[in-house]
Amino acid sequence: MQKHCLAGVAQHKIEALNTNLRGFLKQIVAIYPGSFDPVTNGHLDLIHRGCKLFDRLVVAIARNPEKDDSLFSLEERMEMLKAMTADLDNVTVDAFEGLLMTYCIENHANAVLRGIRAVSDYEFELQMALMNRKIEPRVETVFMMPAEKYSYLSSRIVREIASFGGPLSGFVPELVEAHLRRRVAQKRAATSEIPIK
Ligand code: PNS
Repeated sequence: MQKHCLAGVAQHKIEALNTNLRGFLKQIVAIYPGSFDPVTNGHLDLIHRGCKLFDRLVVAIARNPEKDDSLFSLEERMEMLKAMTADLDNVTVDAFEGLLMTYCIENHANAVLRGIRAVSDYEFELQMALMNRKIEPRVETVFMMPAEKYSYLSSRIVREIASFGGPLSGFVPELVEAHLRRRVAQKRAATSEIPIK
């Protein structure tokens, strides 16, 4: 049908029109930053929602060498996230150090994706979004809500449940659960070697 409508239009005019249209359709590249220690089903829910909205979504793991009390190394977190997002064509996984806004500009990102689970998240997220906007007004923060069933879920609570050998199914993917069980066992073995005085 479209072919028929454009039949009499010169090729160079069609090409000029396409170029102009491409200018209007700006690509939205979003960064989804976080600690992901480890990735939970709540994070994955947000990634699945975000990749439908943005042209490209970069899941960016923050490295903080000054405060590194994380359970998993950056490489382990990256490996888990890559495995869990391998089927999503427009999602990539990366790591960054320093200011999030610097990373966004260096990677030509125009949006930051953050999840809000409950009102309690709002105050911190608002402060961070407004400060980031002050630093770099070209980057917009977009908030999305994960499914209600994940509204009480966090990496911190998952680490705690794992440390007491509690149930993890439904909270994290099986691969992440296996990593958690292994890490807890390793930590337990390491501490049992230290004699209690
Ligand atoms: O998963 P988290 O711990 O809630 O993620 C927080 C994170 C990593 C997104 C935030 O601490 C961050 O952006 N750190 C990078 C340093 C930075 O830009 N700080 C200024 C934020 S206003």
